[in-house]
Amino acid sequence: MSTKNTAISVKNLKKSFGENEVLKGVSFDVPQGTMLALLGPNGAGKTTTVKILSTLLKANGGSARIEGHDVSTDPDKVRGVIGLTGQSAAVDELLTGRENLIMMGQLYRLTKKSAVARAEELLIEFDLTEAANRPTKTYSGGMRRRLDLAVSLIATPPIIFLDEPTTGLDPRSRLVMWDIIQRLMDNGTTILLTTQYLEEADQLADKIILINNGIVAAEGTAAELKQKIGKDHFIVTFASKKHYDSARTALKGKITQTNDDELQIHIPIKGTGKDIQAVLKTLDSEKIPISSTDIHKPTLDDVFLNITRKEK
Ligand SMILES: Nc1ncnc2c1ncn2[C@@H]1O[C@H](COP(=O)(O)OP(=O)(O)O)[C@@H](O)[C@H]1O
Ligand SMILES: [Mg+2]
Repeated sequence: MSTKNTAISVKNLKKSFGENEVLKGVSFDVPQGTMLALLGPNGAGKTTTVKILSTLLKANGGSARIEGHDVSTDPDKVRGVIGLTGQSAAVDELLTGRENLIMMGQLYRLTKKSAVARAEELLIEFDLTEAANRPTKTYSGGMRRRLDLAVSLIATPPIIFLDEPTTGLDPRSRLVMWDIIQRLMDNGTTILLTTQYLEEADQLADKIILINNGIVAAEGTAAELKQKIGKDHFIVTFASKKHYDSARTALKGKITQTNDDELQIHIPIKGTGKDIQAVLKTLDSEKIPISSTDIHKPTLDDVFLNITRKEK
């Protein structure tokens, strides 16, 4: 089988820690130049997967190839094509941002001159020039994450793993990080990102994999996942029980959900125009007044909660 266009190929990956079966057979492919988001509740095995793919941990079963190199038999080749930004990346707190970058460049066997030049480029790109000569222990959370990512890019790897790159960041720093990640994607880097934020996966990823109970519980684009979980709903609220009851009779067969306390009916709709008009027309012809209306579009949160709830 050709692996030409597949940057990351994972087949039936298994990993246990003692009795704890964390991965029970996980498979996925990441085409070159795309981003896959690995989503899952805490403890689902996201970091474990990233560690196996970046050769820091051995799997108990299955296989994984990075740019065609097997992670268990060819770990050195794998390390040569990846960059890793972990939840605790290897930044020396006492060194300055610039020194960290240069040191990492030399670890990657760049000459001193190229390491210095590459460090300079990254400092500019990640907006760290002003802080470049300060020890990194004085950096804010957002600056620290940017440096972590910069460090992992020193050798311009074609594939990078981002393990929860924005967890704990304030919304502004998160946006800055998204911007940087987006630029990496624009440059054709293949990215595997793990995140707790569904919105992040929704915004950035070409494809999303939801891991739950050790298996891939759902996968697809954000739009596909949302579609799976259900249609948009038109929600009508009434001011009195009498109107609510009359509406339920008038729209019998179309309503999928009611809420007696809120005096609300839910009607699935396709798009917005016609279905809503039909509902309003029926209510109008029956002279049933409406208190308010709303449209609920399924979000990734719905998908996530629905799946993780069901499988428990
Ligand atoms: N080195 C380890 N030894 C034992 N158990 C581990 C180890 N690393 C992870 N685990 C367990 O594996 C499960 C998955 O952890 P992890 O991959 O970190 O999840 P996630 O990153 O999705 O939050 C958890 O139950 C965790 O306690
Ligand atoms: Mg983790």
